[in-house]
Amino acid sequence: MKKYIFIITILGFICACCNDEMPDDETGGGGNEGIDLTNISYDPTPYDFPTPQFFPEPNLPADNPLTDEGIELGRRLFYDPILSADSTMSCGSCHQPSASFADNVPQPFGIDGLTGPRNTMALVNMAFVPNNQFNWDGKFPNLEVQAIEPVENPVELHEDWGNVETKLRRHPTYPEYFRKAFGIENTDDITRELATQAITQFELTLISSDSYYDKAVVRTEPGVFLEENELRGMKLFQDEGATGLKDAQCWHCHSFGARKALFTNGGFFNNGLDEVTSLTDFEDLGRGAVTGDLGDNGKFKAPTLRNIALTAPYMHDGRFATLEEVIDHYGSGGHPAPNVDAFVPLIDLDEQEKADIIAFLHTLTDTTFTNNPAYQNPYE
Ligand code: HEC
Ligand code: HEC
Repeated sequence: MKKYIFIITILGFICACCNDEMPDDETGGGGNEGIDLTNISYDPTPYDFPTPQFFPEPNLPADNPLTDEGIELGRRLFYDPILSADSTMSCGSCHQPSASFADNVPQPFGIDGLTGPRNTMALVNMAFVPNNQFNWDGKFPNLEVQAIEPVENPVELHEDWGNVETKLRRHPTYPEYFRKAFGIENTDDITRELATQAITQFELTLISSDSYYDKAVVRTEPGVFLEENELRGMKLFQDEGATGLKDAQCWHCHSFGARKALFTNGGFFNNGLDEVTSLTDFEDLGRGAVTGDLGDNGKFKAPTLRNIALTAPYMHDGRFATLEEVIDHYGSGGHPAPNVDAFVPLIDLDEQEKADIIAFLHTLTDTTFTNNPAYQNPYE
């Protein structure tokens, strides 16, 4: 079965490559629009969503049930440069599995060599994140709506969805994938909505729950323990109180769920990155530009810290190159601003405490996640 999928994958790639060169007359003069697909069987296999032990219930879209076929189509679209105007970049160019589906530059370049103001976000455990608000400012209410923007954004794939629909309808293999995933009857039924539904299905399967922390702390597997410094770091981070160690306050924003599985509460905060005297002074208004509420200016989503050692540089603008720089920032209580969160100025860490927290953060690295064959680029 695995071999079969692999062969299809390779064939798909070869076809994806040759299609660009294929003159219009070979595809029937103007492409394959209007081709009937009902001779291809439609019998999707429901995806058995693997909620990890001690995770909260997943927040899955009722109108877009996950199927093996939908997820596979989503994976192909996610990694296919057909979504970009010049066929050079895909979602996966910036969201790379080895970097927990982020990348390692402060602000990524899109196809035109332009950058936006923001750092690429990691894509991890998105089925469980509370609030369902995506991007640093939470401006998108779900993943399907989120997936529309990168395709058209001038600093990302800078393509037009109408063109993408045409390319997919004329493509030698995508019509069959869309038929198998969604039961469409005609190539003309391939739409942006179905493409973003498939991408969403793939994104929802990106689950990280097998870090050293999960083994040692969440599942308490026999013989797996945190080192002394990692354990101190965890206690500082978690504010457990009973240990005589300091309270580093991290937990208030970077935690959620049963057994503390997610490392984000999904909320928006000002964590003291910039010293400003007025709420209108932030360079990037963040959440405030979405809600229009002055008090939200300079607030950003508290991101998950899972796989955080893999996603440098850090913060919404990638300003910190290393975790050491991040902890130095917090260790001195951040910078003053009218709406800086009350917990941040309370943070006060010495060098040993900072090193312990960093050691703990490294236990959140999950190579089962980054190496998962189901998540990789099918065209490589
Ligand atoms: C040029 C690099 C780049 C490309 C290409 C790109 N992204 Fe992103 N992605 C980003 C950046 C930067 C952000 C943060 C944007 C912001 O907050 O304004 C982001 C944010 C996201 C988020 C929000 C995650 C969260 O936790 O809130 C999702 C989901 C996402 N991208 C999916 C995609 C998909 C799907 C595609 C392809 C259709 C894609 N991205 C293409 C750079 C990229
Ligand atoms: C008041 C809530 C709050 C507290 C307390 C807090 N953080 Fe954060 N953290 C955030 C927010 C919000 C961001 C994103 C800010 C931005 O980019 O503008 C962030 C970003 C980060 C990042 C960078 C993530 C990335 O993907 O770029 C790391 C690492 C981090 N925090 C670790 C910690 C640690 C360790 C502590 C405790 C010492 C801590 N945080 C305390 C809210 C908080």
